[in-house]
Amino acid sequence: MQDFELGFTSVAKEQEPIRAEISGRLPDWLRGTLIRNGPAQWNAGVDRMRHWFDGFAMLHAFTLDESGVSYRSRFLRGPDWCAVQADGKLRHPQFATDPCRSFFKKVASLFVNELGCNPNVNVVKLGKRWLALTETPLAIEFDRQTLQTLGVFDYDQDSFHRQITSAHPVFDQGVMHNFLVQLGRETRYTGYRMPPGGSREAFAHYLSKTPGYLHSCSMTSREMLLWEGPFTVNPLQLLWRNRPYIENFRWRPELGSRLVRLGRDGRSEAFELPPLFVFHHVNAFYEGSCLCVDVLAYQDARSVQQLYLDDLLGPSDEPVDTPELIRVRVEKGKAQMETLSKTPVELPRISEAQGQPYRVVYGITRRESRFYEGLVRLDTHTDTAQFWSEAGCFAGEPVPQVSPDGLEKVLLSVVLDSTCGQSFLLVLDGETMSERARCYVPAVVPFGFHGGFASEG
Ligand SMILES: [Fe+2]
Repeated sequence: MQDFELGFTSVAKEQEPIRAEISGRLPDWLRGTLIRNGPAQWNAGVDRMRHWFDGFAMLHAFTLDESGVSYRSRFLRGPDWCAVQADGKLRHPQFATDPCRSFFKKVASLFVNELGCNPNVNVVKLGKRWLALTETPLAIEFDRQTLQTLGVFDYDQDSFHRQITSAHPVFDQGVMHNFLVQLGRETRYTGYRMPPGGSREAFAHYLSKTPGYLHSCSMTSREMLLWEGPFTVNPLQLLWRNRPYIENFRWRPELGSRLVRLGRDGRSEAFELPPLFVFHHVNAFYEGSCLCVDVLAYQDARSVQQLYLDDLLGPSDEPVDTPELIRVRVEKGKAQMETLSKTPVELPRISEAQGQPYRVVYGITRRESRFYEGLVRLDTHTDTAQFWSEAGCFAGEPVPQVSPDGLEKVLLSVVLDSTCGQSFLLVLDGETMSERARCYVPAVVPFGFHGGFASEG
């Protein structure tokens, strides 16, 4: 048994609000709720989810107020979760798991654009509304206080019928920016903006002949950037597929990568780069006239395979693959790439707004374990790193928070302590990575992906 197996164990029940046991001292200014999203149930009636990314979404909230810290959790009642509760069957294809059904039903489902809706990747705030997101275009709205599902977010029922999106929109002055992918003979990437209470409005398109798996983007005041690596799919094969969604993608390094630039003025272009696989952009910004785009890059796409539950929890002692921080500099129509750091870092967060110059990236890291276990603070100017780790503990995405006076910065991360079978909210000093407080809850928070901090009451 792997010591991180508990992080991939299905949660049996939702947790009503319960007090955490605090050790250390929390900053007086740190008030609000850390909301985390991630898979928490890998049983789907007669079907069993095969991949970490497929588990049913559960929202977790750690609320910090005058009386201490409390924790609650709730499954997101998306269409897929509700279907399994109703009849014990998974109705829609997931990332790497297809429901048990006939070939003819699989083909029929594609013609009605039937896609799963299990938004287990991220949460964002659009105006006053909180949304849970994944890579299929349906989002689910939830109540920030109770975590109750409010329903499918309909994007104002606009005409943007696309198959794939990102769970990593970028916000610019409250306006959400994201991209949509329409697979076809030529695949169309569409960058769009959406103000709170408004509708989606496209600002640029790019046509690709070799569509790649896209997970996130970065953005400046002038453009949105996509990394199209050579982990590609033939859309026709996807249409007639007889295998789960992601298993239609193939690693084809001979194609190289493209940094796709969707100009906010409507112009798009792409720059050829070496074959690398990317889940997460860190940031994009300008140094004078030079556009800098920082991403976490893998040598290939093997990590997708490594995150199948049978691989993760099997007898192998092969560690999961980790990416490196690379920077692409675009100037005078040419793009050049350099490695900024070989320190493993994933689920990156910065405390600056997207599009602004930055120096420090925070993330999870892997050192001794097969799986990500620690946290890292990486200084991109000096390529020096500071770490937090503890034996038997596995940390999730670190969320930086800056005090109202701008003088203090802390990191919030939900850590699973496998030695006692409980999770805790960890609060680190954002400069030194030293521990300020930890708040244990009598519950296991499975390994999730992304989250946000709601600082209002
Ligand atoms: Fe992500």
